[in-house]
Amino acid sequence: ARITLRQLLDHAAEHGYGVPAFNINNMEQGLAVMEAAKDVDSPVILQASRGARSYAGDIMLGRIIDALEEMYPDIPLCMHQDHGNNVATCLSAIQHGYTSVMMDGSLKEDAKTPSDYDYNVGITAEVARLAHMVGASVEGEIGVLGSLETGEGDAEDGHGFEGKLDRHMLVTDPEEARRFVSETKVDALAVAIGTSHGAYKFTREPTGEVLAMEIIEKLHQVLPNTHLVMHGSSSVPKEWQEVFNSHGGEMRETWGVPVDEIVRGIKHGVRKINIDTDLRLAATAAMRKVAVTDPSEFDPRKFFKPAMDAMRSVCRQRFEAFGTAGNA
Ligand code: G3H
Ligand code: 13P
Ligand code: NA
Ligand code: ZN
Repeated sequence: ARITLRQLLDHAAEHGYGVPAFNINNMEQGLAVMEAAKDVDSPVILQASRGARSYAGDIMLGRIIDALEEMYPDIPLCMHQDHGNNVATCLSAIQHGYTSVMMDGSLKEDAKTPSDYDYNVGITAEVARLAHMVGASVEGEIGVLGSLETGEGDAEDGHGFEGKLDRHMLVTDPEEARRFVSETKVDALAVAIGTSHGAYKFTREPTGEVLAMEIIEKLHQVLPNTHLVMHGSSSVPKEWQEVFNSHGGEMRETWGVPVDEIVRGIKHGVRKINIDTDLRLAATAAMRKVAVTDPSEFDPRKFFKPAMDAMRSVCRQRFEAFGTAGNA
């Protein structure tokens, strides 16, 4: 059954768990997430980026979600727009059955340049006003995602934008966050703590210098009733890097966000954890393995099935670690 982000995260807060939000673009990713959820009795957040919507098409993606809902009637399902860049993107998502939208006003509409506070408040409050009229939930973002190692800010497509940003832009200010939530009425708030999108987040195991988890505790103190969202929260597992690289892949040495750090965040108000890269990596590593171990294989299903199994296993691990399991 379809539920809103607000309903799901209120339940998560009450019971002290977090919910991974997995990006999907196609049927295989959708099936993998739902099978994992069924395995461990977990509610689900599926999210689509603007890129996902144009890849599959709004009608196709909408029907995939309808089908998943019908196939897994016992799994509570929130369908969320990831990184909406304007009012139209958010409203058209709702028209296609999404029960939740992110208005990412931390960047301008081009999704490539940091915006100012007034722009962010104005557009996010407008989306919240409209979405709430029709019962959809809203996530906003304050602070710019990016690396505290390099000072590189993170455009929505995972490419850094030109020039370095100061630390104060890359780490959400608790007082500004408090004001932003009261002025916009968002249901959930994405925060910047040094994580970035994609595979290359940290050049070594992250410490508190580059992964500002202590900010989460401060944010939770000033915003005890706001659901916090961590973007760029793939863990980039070493074991999948190894499968990828040992079958012709070229991923340079890299670290993601350790699952333990996310679990610590969940103790301090983190309720939604965005994960895209981990499923991409597991899926393509599994497909590379098929390609290398059986070069004569040309039935795509023989690639997609191991890819689904790989994604399902990652999802299952996150549902278990975040305490989502058992809460469907
Ligand atoms: O926010 C970034 C997500 O990983 C989606 O990426 O825009 O390539 O679909 P995408
Ligand atoms: P990752 O690239 O770490 O998976 O982050 C995904 C994300 O934040 C989507 O909004
Ligand atoms: Na952002
Ligand atoms: Zn994101």
